[in-house]
Amino acid sequence: MKFFIDTANLEQIREAQDLGILDGVTTNPSLMAKEGISGKEAILKHYKDICEIVDGDISAEVLSTTYEEMIKEGEELAAIHPNIVVKVPIIKDGIKAIKYFSQKGIRTNCTLIFSAGQALLAAKAGATYVSPFLGRLDDVSTDGLHLIQEIRTIFDNYGFETEILAASVRHAMHIINCAKIGADVVTCPLPPILSLLNHPLTASGLEQFIKDSQKMQ
Ligand code: G3P
Repeated sequence: MKFFIDTANLEQIREAQDLGILDGVTTNPSLMAKEGISGKEAILKHYKDICEIVDGDISAEVLSTTYEEMIKEGEELAAIHPNIVVKVPIIKDGIKAIKYFSQKGIRTNCTLIFSAGQALLAAKAGATYVSPFLGRLDDVSTDGLHLIQEIRTIFDNYGFETEILAASVRHAMHIINCAKIGADVVTCPLPPILSLLNHPLTASGLEQFIKDSQKMQ
């Protein structure tokens, strides 16, 4: 399973990269705005900076919602670096744009997926990734993991190569359950990834080993 980091914060991206387990980065307009990035030049430069830190797929989201504008914007984003994956919302014009991009060899991540039908359409259009939002479904008392399971079944039934990129992943159990279900990628901020390290028996065991190692010196 691939690990992507879901942030536009360069410090957090560097820290995740230093861990040695990072496969890519996802961003969205909310995450970019949180870092104070605004204006076309600043946005393009920020994605370029991310591409220089991480050698993996970097999702850059279009801000427009019409076919023509998404094509223009997506082509500009894709031209930044070969690792850029154009992130497109699951709307009618978005499906048309994904089809266009896939025919042009531009990779895409279809975002804001909340149903199996949306994922199926995105895969039919040739999306490289679909991003079901796990945590946001849980927020409205709907089983986000069940959606990922449904998409896994559908993609496996027909051999779709589109990868399931579990997004809106909030904690360690989300990551573990995604791995059990067979999501291809999880994306989340750094803390849930680091929390996979935690176990009280590891902490107490290490404390004892350190204590005993002092008797050996
Ligand atoms: O990639 C989508 C993700 O950023 C959404 O996460 O926690 O805002 O639901 P969240």
